[in-house]
Amino acid sequence: MVSVKLEKVNKIFAPNVHVLKDLDLNIQDKEFMVLVGPSGCGKSTCLNIIAGLELVTDGKIMFGDADVTELPPKERNLAMVFQSYALYPHMDVRKNMSFALRLAKKDPEYIEEMVQKAANILDISDLLERKPKELSGGQRQRVALGRCIVRDPSVFLFDEPLSNLDAKLRSQMRGEIIKLQKRLKTTLVYVTHDQVEAMSMADRITILNDGCIQQVGTPSEVYDSPRNKFVAGFIGSPTMNFIECVKDGKTLKFGDNILKLTEALNDKSSKASSENLVFGFRPEHTKITSKPHEGAYKVTINVVEYLGAQTVISFEFSGKIFAMAVSPGFYSANMGDTAYISFPIEKAHIFDPETNLNLVHDVAIQKIL
Ligand SMILES: Nc1ncnc2c1ncn2[C@@H]1O[C@H](COP(=O)(O)OP(=O)(O)OP(=O)(O)O)[C@@H](O)[C@H]1O
Ligand SMILES: [Mg+2]
Repeated sequence: MVSVKLEKVNKIFAPNVHVLKDLDLNIQDKEFMVLVGPSGCGKSTCLNIIAGLELVTDGKIMFGDADVTELPPKERNLAMVFQSYALYPHMDVRKNMSFALRLAKKDPEYIEEMVQKAANILDISDLLERKPKELSGGQRQRVALGRCIVRDPSVFLFDEPLSNLDAKLRSQMRGEIIKLQKRLKTTLVYVTHDQVEAMSMADRITILNDGCIQQVGTPSEVYDSPRNKFVAGFIGSPTMNFIECVKDGKTLKFGDNILKLTEALNDKSSKASSENLVFGFRPEHTKITSKPHEGAYKVTINVVEYLGAQTVISFEFSGKIFAMAVSPGFYSANMGDTAYISFPIEKAHIFDPETNLNLVHDVAIQKIL
């Protein structure tokens, strides 16, 4: 139980691969923090640096008040779960779970007590005599978690621990990990490239791109108030629509179409570097009707995808393809149909293409807590 703080952390791999750039991050005690970002953005490197498996090129790592920057992994009191959970194949579950404690020469009674406690929490008490090859993927993953729990670490570090599991098991394990963390009250840093996983699990999310932190916030903060175009496009599914436009007085012009701005949006968008702007609207906030009405734009239906929980309709507007999402059965359309769409102005995002910053939500990278 400890807070984790990264101060101006840089990691440069030879020759000259600058992977983490001036990372400042405050992870609270008992917090479930998810690091999310595209492949190669530096998530695993960041986790390895917290673990001590990699050393920083520059900067500082603090666990609570202790500077651990130079400490080896075994002195950091943390436990890590990787994508390949790497159980020892020749050892049964009990031996796998107790391995670290036996290595640390703990008392056998204490070891058995910790194993039983962890096995109970994870509901694997009846599997203790089995070898890993006699377990399902989900059971193996639970043993890997058990191996962490028995050590009673101050910090859990998880690197894409669920990506080897099928979709159903993944969603079940997600729920189990959330419950586990709330029950053990241990600080947990969880890496994934899956924004749905990030949104559903995190107390707060850190969004990384190209070795730089783009935003740190609760799932609703990063969804409702994305700081820049990258966060806006990364969080949310289907992804946010972006349309290039030009500011003209108190309106935005997309080709021949005009959107009237409110006073507030007009003020905010006036702060842009030029009159060129990018308008952003989420598929799920877009409204569609078959009849024209004031404030609606005429579009042509492109593809209709029935996805079960929602229907995604792509449409052509101003020469480009955009997406919208509606409840199933809400609107039936065919390719080539004409329809009318509108966006609620209070949900609009406007980005400055020079800086990519969101002019509507001018928020800090990370709120000071
Ligand atoms: N030991 C290393 N030497 C040189 N470059 C490295 C080393 N380890 C990682 N990198 C580079 O650092 C960058 C970030 O790698 P990292 O593994 O942290 O990405 P990631 O965000 O975890 O990606 P993924 O989602 O694919 O796992 C990549 O460009 C990678 O090639
Ligand atoms: Mg990785």
